[in-house]
Amino acid sequence: MGYRDVYENWQADPEAFWMKAAEAIDWDKAPTKALFDENAPLYEWFSDAKVNTCYNAVDRHVENGRGEQTAIIYDSPITHTKREISYVELRNRVASLAGALRAKGVEKGDRVIIYMPMIPEALEAMLACARIGAVHSVVFGGFAANELAVRIDDATPKAIIAASCGLEPNRVVHYKPLVDGAIELAEHKPDFCVILQREQEVAELIEGRDFNWHGFQYGVEPAECVPVEGNHPAYILYTSGTTGAPKGVVRHTAGHLVALNWTMKNIYNVDPGDVFWAASDVGWVVGHSYICYAPLIHGNTTIVFEGKPVGTPDAGTFWRVIEEHNVKSFFTAPTAFRAVKREDPTGEFVKKYDLSCLDQVFLAGERADPDTIIWAQDQLGKPVIDHWWQTELGYPGVCNPVGIELLDVKLGSPSVPLPGYEMKILDDDGNELPKGELGAIAIKLPLPPGTLPTLWNAEDRYRKSYLNTFPGYYETGDAGMIDEDGYLYIMARTDDVINVAGHRLSTGGMEEVLAAHPDVAECAVIGVTDQLKGQLPMGFVCLNKGTTTSEEDVIKGCVKLVREKIGPVAAFKLCTVVDRLPKTRSGKILRGIMVKIADSAEYKMPATIDDPVILDEIKEALKPMGYAKG
Ligand code: COA
Ligand code: AMP
Repeated sequence: MGYRDVYENWQADPEAFWMKAAEAIDWDKAPTKALFDENAPLYEWFSDAKVNTCYNAVDRHVENGRGEQTAIIYDSPITHTKREISYVELRNRVASLAGALRAKGVEKGDRVIIYMPMIPEALEAMLACARIGAVHSVVFGGFAANELAVRIDDATPKAIIAASCGLEPNRVVHYKPLVDGAIELAEHKPDFCVILQREQEVAELIEGRDFNWHGFQYGVEPAECVPVEGNHPAYILYTSGTTGAPKGVVRHTAGHLVALNWTMKNIYNVDPGDVFWAASDVGWVVGHSYICYAPLIHGNTTIVFEGKPVGTPDAGTFWRVIEEHNVKSFFTAPTAFRAVKREDPTGEFVKKYDLSCLDQVFLAGERADPDTIIWAQDQLGKPVIDHWWQTELGYPGVCNPVGIELLDVKLGSPSVPLPGYEMKILDDDGNELPKGELGAIAIKLPLPPGTLPTLWNAEDRYRKSYLNTFPGYYETGDAGMIDEDGYLYIMARTDDVINVAGHRLSTGGMEEVLAAHPDVAECAVIGVTDQLKGQLPMGFVCLNKGTTTSEEDVIKGCVKLVREKIGPVAAFKLCTVVDRLPKTRSGKILRGIMVKIADSAEYKMPATIDDPVILDEIKEALKPMGYAKG
């Protein structure tokens, strides 16, 4: 069956389509139906089933003869370490950790925050939670203590599992003081912490609260898999929204299992036993879905890579890993390829390696610019597949479904909607726009299995953020168009979210931080175009009258504050002082126009602008930072 047949098959009978996909999962109690729509527009999938994620990702492979197959390859050019963990070993390690968590009182439904770098123990911690029905929330290591504290207060975890440190090429990231700081800042206090002491740094433990990862498990009874309801939350993953308060995306257990398993063959084109590599981080949704869960559920070998595309040690790292570990399908972010291309434009490193094992490459997380795709196609001689998704969805919604059929690649488009996704382009009033016209991208409800059913403890926010604008649809927050062949083009965000090196960040959140600076009266943060990272945040601050601090010191202070409050991942380094911000007569800051000026793009003077002269002032302020040159 080709793509059209599969898509039409789903359209004709979604219930039958997903029940068929569900047959690939081992259920403790099989679902009697797929969709539960009693509370529409809130939907659930496979809610009356009983199932365990860890069983499906680990134990069943051991029982089915894959025990000796490598489940996880740890490849760390940063520490010069490589290690392989078989499925049987993984089961034993996870059962032991799960048993230790249970012995300390962690039960089904309890939350556990995981704050770990790219090491296999991060996956083990996730799977151990899944084993006993605990709900994990993994926090990316590039976030500061304050962001961790916000997540602690929202998720109210019983425990935190962390490593002593993370390793960036230029520095050691001291995780333990960040955990201590976050717990101090948070109102909610976890019962205990489990700390994996890495050899690069041994952290100080707090007597009675902190336990050493190894000692913690000593002599404890391993835990069996606890069956949970299909709609039991598997995890909460926080993502950026319009304000500084992150959104806790909830993932239900059964839909997650069914959908992820389906994608491994139909999208990523791998069979059980093949090696699959997503070069992301467990702190992001790509890491949840495609470093940890999907490859393991499907019986693949996954790679945990602790390194960067360049500099660890060179721009050939990706190709070395692919050759050495026989990777069949590879997934990364366009920004990573731009970094490699910048160092190795003519592909000298590519030529050093035998990449015959590799069938295709997937790109996601941000717009894949045609130059980067063409460069990768030329260097690798393989299909380079752009695909679109969001943390909320958990897996791609729009893709060239290589495992079903490789469709024509159209540069600039992530291709076509997958089964489960009916994409529409709507105008402001919710009317469907004709082919080729630009509008808001919306998905007809219900969203398919595996996508978010709600936000953690925030159903109202879920409705407001995604469901209320266009009744009957999920609002993606992206704008774009669909062409005559049904290919989707993603053009921009409709909100204040920006995408920096494939990382989703809230400019609203950064504005909240800048506004708290004692010398700042008013501010705006926008996302400007960057050759490497796609976008970079840029701050404009107006100072309080009578401030005696120099502009230079205010700027330094602002940069420091964002790093301290949000974290290095915000990459907030561009900031300038201006007298006034451009606004409409009703006082709305014209951020969109500021972006266009910075990027030297054309713009129309809004009729509602209060004082057009301010735009010239903004332009002058941008020039010393290398922007607004056109
Ligand atoms: N823990 C702590 N700090 C981290 C971190 C982590 N896990 N990840 C990144 N950081 C820090 C970096 O060290 C850097 O700090 P610095 O300001 O002291 O240099 C800062 O956060 C910004 O990091 P990043 O945006 O990643 O930039 P970079 O210059 O270090 O690397 C790239 C640039 C393009 C190589 C890198 O961004 C990259 O590999 N991107 C791929 C992104 C990706 O896979 N995204 C997942 C979506 S699929
Ligand atoms: P995240 O939740 O971090 O995965 O970010 C989701 C957002 O990233 C989307 O809403 C898009 O704005 C952007 N994005 C992800 N993938 C793509 C893609 N292939 N093309 C264009 N934008 C993308």
